[in-house]
Amino acid sequence: MDNTLPSWLIYCRPGFENDCVEETQAKPIETDKDSGYVVLQGKPRLAYSQLAFARQLLRLHGEVNDLQERDRITPLLAAIPAMPAKFSALYLEVPDTNDGKTLSGFTRRFQPLLEEVLREQGRLDDAPPVGAALAANSLRQQAGSYTENLPRLHIFFPNQSRALICTSDPHNSSAALNGIQRVSMNGDAPSRSYLKLAEAFEVFLDAKEQAQFLKPNMTAVDLGAAPGGWTWQLAQRGLKVFAVDNGPLKGAAATHPNIKHLRQDGFKFRPQRPVDWLVCDMVEQPQRVAELMTEWFVGGLTMHAIFNLKLPMKKHVAAMQEALNRIRTALNNKGVRYTLQAKQLYHDREEVTVYLTRVKK
Ligand SMILES: C[S@@+](CC[C@H](N)C(=O)[O-])C[C@H]1O[C@@H](n2cnc3c(N)ncnc32)[C@H](O)[C@@H]1O
Repeated sequence: MDNTLPSWLIYCRPGFENDCVEETQAKPIETDKDSGYVVLQGKPRLAYSQLAFARQLLRLHGEVNDLQERDRITPLLAAIPAMPAKFSALYLEVPDTNDGKTLSGFTRRFQPLLEEVLREQGRLDDAPPVGAALAANSLRQQAGSYTENLPRLHIFFPNQSRALICTSDPHNSSAALNGIQRVSMNGDAPSRSYLKLAEAFEVFLDAKEQAQFLKPNMTAVDLGAAPGGWTWQLAQRGLKVFAVDNGPLKGAAATHPNIKHLRQDGFKFRPQRPVDWLVCDMVEQPQRVAELMTEWFVGGLTMHAIFNLKLPMKKHVAAMQEALNRIRTALNNKGVRYTLQAKQLYHDREEVTVYLTRVKK
């Protein structure tokens, strides 16, 4: 490695390592297929919010090999960079693989031991430990309240004897452990897709935006709604939902008073009055979905949208960027002000989720 250039560690969905590399255009150093992470070098700055395939973006400072069970703490402490002098939190992390799941028992046990030593050395903020925040399932909000602008310290274990020592900028990374935003299932939800929209809201909107943009009695259209997981997520937040799908809604979604099921074609349906939200989970070509979203925004039919772009078998990055650029070009030409963000969420498989929102003039 050339040590004059910054190195980066990025977590991703296993199988999407090459997409991560392609998106950053940085030099690949370690990109094992299905490992769930990549090491890159050479870009002075990367923007987390602009990287769809990156679950987490970390600056890599060094690594420790041959860690021995009898004393892991001494070599790890020696590898932690002297600057910054203090960290807001310690994250011990593992890849999103079967081996990683096995390792997470070890990191949970090791976390309080290392935290205690770092605190004694004055290198860790005296805020609640990461474990406590995670238990509250609101890391994002809690982190915001105590971290100020201090970087976080991340120690990533590709396996039990190797550790990569990293830091994250709280304004340019995910606050969630392993870059995975945890959300909980609702017992009445008609499908597990409920979790996907829940995760999208957590990832794309902070607590203030959620309170402002997702108020009871706001209106939403769900294109490709059946069996009703996304619709149920919106209804749980108090929104009135037009659920458009020729297929049936299931369970409680079929009879909920705030849900109106419309058996229509999602590509042809347009609301009589503009709505607050458009969500779309139809399995279709990304370009076709991009065109549909553009039409709704140019026509002033919605304020915000969350939609999926299903990725083709190959050329994921190119297909995604082509679809996103189509939206950008059309909205720029029409003078629509907006922000656009895409992420492959934890609950996304061969797809990315996009958040498009109108910016008021
Ligand atoms: C992946 S499923 C949606 C799952 C849903 N988001 C949930 O949370 O339960 C895709 C749905 O899109 C619907 N669909 C596909 N093409 C459509 C079209 N042109 N108009 C309306 N619905 C369509 C299918 O009937 C199917 O129910």
